[in-house]
Amino acid sequence: MIALFNLTSLEVQCMEQIRAEPYRIKMVEPIKQTTREERLRAIREAGYNTFLLKSEDVYIDLLTDSGTSAMSDRQWAAMMLGDEAYSGSRNFYHLVETVREIYGFRYVIPTHQGRGAEHILATLLIKPRDYVPWNMYFTTTRAHQERAGGQFVDVIIDEAHDPAAEHPFKGNVDLDKLENLIKKVGPDKIPYLSLAVTVNMAGGQPVSLENLRKTRELCSRYGIPIYFDATRCAENAYLIQQREEGQRHRPVREILREMMSYGDGCTMSGKKDCLVNIGGFLATNDRELYERATEIVTLFEGFPTYGGLAGRDMEAMAVGIREMVDDAYLAHRVGQVAYLGQQLIDAGVPIVRPIGGHAVFLDARAFLPHLSQDQLPAQALAAALYVESGVRAMERGIVSAGRDPKTGDHRYPKLELVRLTIPRRVYTDRHMDVVAQAVVNLHREAEDIPGLEFVYEPATLRFFTARFRPLRDSRILGPR
Ligand code: F0G
Repeated sequence: MIALFNLTSLEVQCMEQIRAEPYRIKMVEPIKQTTREERLRAIREAGYNTFLLKSEDVYIDLLTDSGTSAMSDRQWAAMMLGDEAYSGSRNFYHLVETVREIYGFRYVIPTHQGRGAEHILATLLIKPRDYVPWNMYFTTTRAHQERAGGQFVDVIIDEAHDPAAEHPFKGNVDLDKLENLIKKVGPDKIPYLSLAVTVNMAGGQPVSLENLRKTRELCSRYGIPIYFDATRCAENAYLIQQREEGQRHRPVREILREMMSYGDGCTMSGKKDCLVNIGGFLATNDRELYERATEIVTLFEGFPTYGGLAGRDMEAMAVGIREMVDDAYLAHRVGQVAYLGQQLIDAGVPIVRPIGGHAVFLDARAFLPHLSQDQLPAQALAAALYVESGVRAMERGIVSAGRDPKTGDHRYPKLELVRLTIPRRVYTDRHMDVVAQAVVNLHREAEDIPGLEFVYEPATLRFFTARFRPLRDSRILGPR
């Protein structure tokens, strides 16, 4: 199993040797197990949408890795250094200096989280009827781009849409797709290329350095800027170190700097790789864009030296950015995801291959072959997993994909997935064992899981607040 594109010594070690978390626990947060009856009641009240469950009713929470990290003792100590001045806080300057050093971008605007930065970038660069090419999409980012009048065009390699395709860099841009689009609509209609590292919706899949280099060359030829969605960039850099030829000896930090050198700037959700519970930023090398962005940020987020964050939050993020590029931390972090994923593979559970950086994605089509995509298999599977075990996961399929704004029809994504997202430094490998056992048990009873239908469907980002009901009575999801 390990021979595939040279899983590396560290990944092999993670699977074959006993290894422990590279931290000791200084503070604990109790969690409680509920009964099956309590969970059945809770999921009915939540309209079979795991987003609408109360966190207290969840045993192991794998809804997201966003804002759910455990901060280190150093980050907590840094919070006490908060300079809460309205303007010119020292924490802002520390953040700017850190982003310059680790990412290499010159100008930085803090935002309350990633989507604050996406909003600013989309508003400044996209005009109505523009096209925004992208290696797949992310929900909120695409919503901002569409709101600004842009149209998303998928330029990821085909393998990314096939859960079983074993490609080490499934996040790669398909250069032909990108060049064809440029030739078809003209470079003037393309304000920038959005480049996600890693690609969340494809399964946490990385982009290779080689692909980044070539993508940069192509975009430079046509004068098109590149903006990274750098949300999980450190995990991408780690996967490059582990999988790309000639990279094994390089520290992640150095790989990340090279990755970022192929772009003009980035939006960042600090709630993921930066190891904080809230925060984000927009970074750019373009002075003029920065100056225009300082006007908008004041309107929507706050003064440009705090942008919607307290001084203490900027300080914790600056410390987190240095911790995120620590090789030992990343080896455990990505190794823990692999540890869970490998248990599922060994038990014959269909998951997205190869295992990505932040989550294990169950392939709901293969898990529930008796359901059609209209019967919302991933949504049903996430609800069933919760009822059976108290583990909370998230749908990433037809419900998340939403409707086509032009036709009003469902979009039918090829990937119909349930994401088991691992928070950073929060759970132990023992928790992963419990999750694996729950999924394997559910897989044995998969044919008893019924489909779902909408009873309430909001117009945008419907996966957050939609409500459903089962299509039939069943032991697992209860009466219709
Ligand atoms: N880009 C990617 C790839 C993301 O995964 C997210 C958030 C964002 C941008 C937006 O950042 O939440 O700070 O505004 N993803 C979360 C998730 C919500 O669960 O995957 P944000």
